[in-house]
Amino acid sequence: MSNTVLLCAPIHFDVIYSINPWMIGEPVNSAVALEQWFRLKDTLEEWGVDVKLIGQVGNLPDMVFTANAGTVRGNKVVLSNFKFPERQPETDVYERWFKKEGYETYRLPKKYSFEGCGDTVVSEDKMFAGYGVRSDLGGIRRAAKILDLELIPLKLSHDSFYHLDTCFCLLNNQCAMYYPGAFTPSALKKLRKHIPDLIPLDVHDAAHFAANSVVYQENRVLMPAGPQKIVEELDIRGVEVTHINTSEFLKSGGSLQCMTLWI
Ligand code: ARG
Repeated sequence: MSNTVLLCAPIHFDVIYSINPWMIGEPVNSAVALEQWFRLKDTLEEWGVDVKLIGQVGNLPDMVFTANAGTVRGNKVVLSNFKFPERQPETDVYERWFKKEGYETYRLPKKYSFEGCGDTVVSEDKMFAGYGVRSDLGGIRRAAKILDLELIPLKLSHDSFYHLDTCFCLLNNQCAMYYPGAFTPSALKKLRKHIPDLIPLDVHDAAHFAANSVVYQENRVLMPAGPQKIVEELDIRGVEVTHINTSEFLKSGGSLQCMTLWI
């Protein structure tokens, strides 16, 4: 697994439009947002993660959610085709950054929607991918093909859990936390087939974005503040949980994993 992440400091972060049910226009405290983001960055660096940064562009408030830039495997990156026009200009900015860093960048045909690591998790030669709310089936199929990964398509069915990383978090290739209420019955079947130890999140923990945790080396998890029951479940499994308050980013429907792209 990579030891490098891409982050974007929330210099121009705000909620100025609404493209998911969490974005109800609650005012963002910019100073608090910056403090919360620094806690994420500092903790990753303390753990020995190499942190790279991209500068935020003024009129792109959601650029802080770097997980949505694309999906990376080795030197290749499939860039996102954002569903909503508000975020579409981000793709050019991310493309320039990846090209400058020497990555081979791929763009999907315009008719497909694909939101990168918001909807995809790569584990060895498999790609778990959510579709149906933001990314579509055509988008995840093309991305898996370019990256030469076996696709496990998981249809999402709940508007509040609009990206896979809001309802599914892989701890290792045997174990994941997930919110059952976010998946269709056939997606649940696939999850059971591929992951032996599936830990369900209750609605309280799911709504506090427990699944939007950053996993490091299987036994370290950075989790948004608020979830309760899942912390005990992880403790039983020897996973060490560190909490970070992400109140400001939740106003945009995002949290720690959304702000972190492993590259
Ligand atoms: N406001 C952003 C959006 O709706 C939040 C994105 C969160 N990112 C994620 N990977 N879940 O697009």
